[in-house]
Amino acid sequence: MLVGRRVGIVGSGFVGATAAYSLTLLGTCHEVVMYDIFPDLAKGKAIDIGQSTSYSPQGTIVTSAETPSDMKDCDIVVITAGVPRKGDMTREDLLLINAKIVKTVVLDIMKYSPNAIILCVANPLDVMTYVIHRLTKWPRNRIIGMAGALDISRMAYQINKKVGFGPGQTRAIVIGDHGQNMIPLPEISAVGGIPLSQLVGKNDMDEIIQKTKEGGAEIVKYLGTSAYYAPGRAITVMIQAILDDSRIVIPSSVLLEGEYGYSDVTVGVPVVLGSSGCEQIIELELDSENKEKFANSVASIKEGIKILEDNGFFE
Ligand code: LAC
Repeated sequence: MLVGRRVGIVGSGFVGATAAYSLTLLGTCHEVVMYDIFPDLAKGKAIDIGQSTSYSPQGTIVTSAETPSDMKDCDIVVITAGVPRKGDMTREDLLLINAKIVKTVVLDIMKYSPNAIILCVANPLDVMTYVIHRLTKWPRNRIIGMAGALDISRMAYQINKKVGFGPGQTRAIVIGDHGQNMIPLPEISAVGGIPLSQLVGKNDMDEIIQKTKEGGAEIVKYLGTSAYYAPGRAITVMIQAILDDSRIVIPSSVLLEGEYGYSDVTVGVPVVLGSSGCEQIIELELDSENKEKFANSVASIKEGIKILEDNGFFE
C-alpha cells in the first residue's frame, strides 16, 4: 500500500520537467523530487516549477536531488533518462547506451526507493521496461512502461480531428510496441460511447491508424526533438491512477506471463492501474489479423532483448 504521495522523476529534460509541471498543476502528489545527471538542470527546473505552485489549486513541494541518495522513499519513480538516437548511431548502439543508463538509475532506485512503483519512459520503451524487470526481479505489477497512455491520446486526437466532435469523450485503444509495429485498434475505439466504425468509414480508419503510428515522428519532424507535452500529461494520468487507486484501464507495457500466448516479454496491453500498479492485465480477443500484428510487435521487442543478451548486458 502507498504510504505517501512522493514522486521521483529521473531526468529533468523536456519530458521529465513537463511531467513534473503537469503533476503540480493538477495537485496529483504531495511532493515531486527531480533528479538529473546534470544537478543544476534539476535544481533550476525544480525551483522554476516550485515557484509556479503558488498559483496551483493544491500545493506541491518540488525539490531536486543532488545525488541519487537524495531521491529516497518515493512511492513512484519515473525514468525519463536516456539519449535520443542521433547521427550515425545504430539501433544497437542506442539500445546499449540507454540500457546502461537505465541500469545505473535502477540500481539506485532499488537502493533508495525499494518499495516504489517504477514508471519507465526511456526508449526503446518496451525493451527498457524489460531491462528493469530483469535487473530488479520485482513483482511485475510494480514495473510499468508508459507508451499506451500517450499513443491512445494521439489516436484520440486523430479521431477527434476526423469526426469533429468535442474531445474528452473519445476512448481510443492501442496495443503492441511503442514503435513501428504499434497496433491502434479503431474497431474497439469509441466516441461518446458510439463505436468509431459507426462514425467513420474504412479510409478514415486507415488514416487514423497511420497518423497515430506516425504521431511521435511527426513532432520530431517539426521540432527536431521528441514530444513532451503529451508524454508529460500521459505520465501524470498514470501516476494519478496509481496514487488515487482509481483502477482505470490504460494500455501499458507490462511483463507477460502467458497472457496473449507470450512470456518473458514486455509489451503494450490494456491493464488496470491502481494503488499496487498494474493490478490486472486484460486479454482482448484478437482476430487473426491482429494476432499476427501482435506477434510481429512481440518479435520486434524480443529482437531488442536479444541484442542486449548477445552483448552480455544481463551477465
Ligand atoms: C514519443 C516518444 C517520447 O513517442 O516516445 O514521442
